[in-house]
Amino acid sequence: MIKTPIFILLGACALGVLLYKLRLRLQLSRAKHRSLTGHARMARRFARLVPFYEYDEAKFFRVDEAPDDVAAARRAGFMRLAATFAERNKKSVELTDAVVDGISDLQFTARYRVPFQFGRFVRRYLKIGAFVESSSGVSVTDLDGNRRYDLTGSYGVNVFGYDFYKDCIARGSERVTELGPVLGAYHPVTAYNVRRLLEISGLDEVSFHMSGTEAVMQAVRLARYHTRRSHLVRFCGAYHGWWGDVQPGVGNPLAARDTYTLKDMDDAALRVLESRRDIACVLVNPLQALHPNISAPGDSTLIDSGRSAHFDRAAYSDWLRKLRAVCSERKIVLIFDEVFVGFRLAAGGAQEYFGVRADMVTYGKTVAGGLPVGVLCGRRETMRRFFNDRPADICFARGTFNAHPYVMGAMYEFLQRFDSDAVRAIYDGLGVWDRRAQALNERLSAAQLPLQVANLSTIWTICYTRPSRYNWMLQYYLRAAGLALSWVGTGRLIFSLNYTAEEFAEVADRILSAARAMQEDGWWWTPPGLTNKSIRRGVLKEMIQARCSSPIGSMSSPRNK
Ligand SMILES: Cc1ncc(COP(=O)(O)O)c(C=O)c1O
Repeated sequence: MIKTPIFILLGACALGVLLYKLRLRLQLSRAKHRSLTGHARMARRFARLVPFYEYDEAKFFRVDEAPDDVAAARRAGFMRLAATFAERNKKSVELTDAVVDGISDLQFTARYRVPFQFGRFVRRYLKIGAFVESSSGVSVTDLDGNRRYDLTGSYGVNVFGYDFYKDCIARGSERVTELGPVLGAYHPVTAYNVRRLLEISGLDEVSFHMSGTEAVMQAVRLARYHTRRSHLVRFCGAYHGWWGDVQPGVGNPLAARDTYTLKDMDDAALRVLESRRDIACVLVNPLQALHPNISAPGDSTLIDSGRSAHFDRAAYSDWLRKLRAVCSERKIVLIFDEVFVGFRLAAGGAQEYFGVRADMVTYGKTVAGGLPVGVLCGRRETMRRFFNDRPADICFARGTFNAHPYVMGAMYEFLQRFDSDAVRAIYDGLGVWDRRAQALNERLSAAQLPLQVANLSTIWTICYTRPSRYNWMLQYYLRAAGLALSWVGTGRLIFSLNYTAEEFAEVADRILSAARAMQEDGWWWTPPGLTNKSIRRGVLKEMIQARCSSPIGSMSSPRNK
């Protein structure tokens, strides 16, 4: 028998390991979305290179080389809006101006309403206040007494209408008032909340947190603890709160080392899950069904008309089933992050809506009847923070305000009402939102307006059908028409489920009239041959020129103005 020298055996082993690692690395590369969003590190590097520059007043109205008459019509429309806002929003704007230097959050949102090249001019003239005084039905009223139809949905909290939440908070507070702010021990309403949350989620245990971000953190932490694996998988574009590990790209000062961002709805991602041994959990935000692999749409990135969204329930359900299968096989914890969509899509949340069960589910936003909360539900074996046979090996998680009596009180009221026939009837009638979106789209097409809406039930996005540099202006026409939008503008409209047919018809009329006014003011004039690609190429060229500090025509680059 011929003896193989030991070094040859070792060499063969090393080569085998190397080839195996290479295969895994290739698999991972193939499972990344080709966009910058799919490449977190590259995106962060690119973001740092983007220089500030802006259009001066003349260029502002004709960045697409519009002829004089079109630029003049745009200017007239812009100044008309400015005059309307100055008159209507006086008190709200005065108070906003008085505090803005002291509120970082306000400065941030004000900065990112429109593409930065247009920002300063818009901030100077189209002033919108940050203050509102009251809410009622489906509307909010500002300090100047302007009542607007609310399409902000309060970041998704407002599912059943503001009066519903006011009632939950008032009654819930009454219920716990004897106990007051005692923490650590639970108010008895908590027992009911736990029981109902477990029934709704179909899971075994629950933990309470202060925000959706914290609930997600805890889910991932526990998955890592129980699997003894390091990495979490999230899908390209999905938002899971602002914790660094779930936001590895732009927005996070540090690189997230233990996060894989994979292509959504793609078999290449399944292959990574099938073969890697370091994956603890997969995080799914079912809202991505509306725009897989794309970040939450906001008007600050609306430089062209490339925004796309389309919801295919069957295809997304199928994808979730495949994920479920591979996670079960590989003992990876499947987490549905239902902070946004839970309680909005169906009584049983996304699990019921898509017909797939997760190992852990996070809820938040609406579930505490309008007060701040994060909830994590999970299977017993993934929720435990200790091992019976290893007493020092724990997964620590506590929080001063977790299960605060007032939050538990409002949650109790929410869950009580949630069981009522009235609420069941609302869920049964949710199909109306697809019909409303379709009818609005037909009206927009008939009026030859270059926009369409895409929706996941009551979560809507406005998409644009003709290449343009000015779509972000629509948010100001909508505001002038008496619609309240959040800071992401036309990227996300969130309806509460209590909109009546008449109220919705009024909103639809206003969307049409706002779009007509914008069209008449010339913003959607397009030069022959303009495409989304040519717009993007043009903007990139401007950036490169600004980066190289060569003065480009009528652009200037003052900082922090
Ligand atoms: C899916 C999802 N997860 C987590 C979060 C974070 O929740 P919070 O803002 O309460 O921290 C959000 C917030 O929008 C969300 O939409």
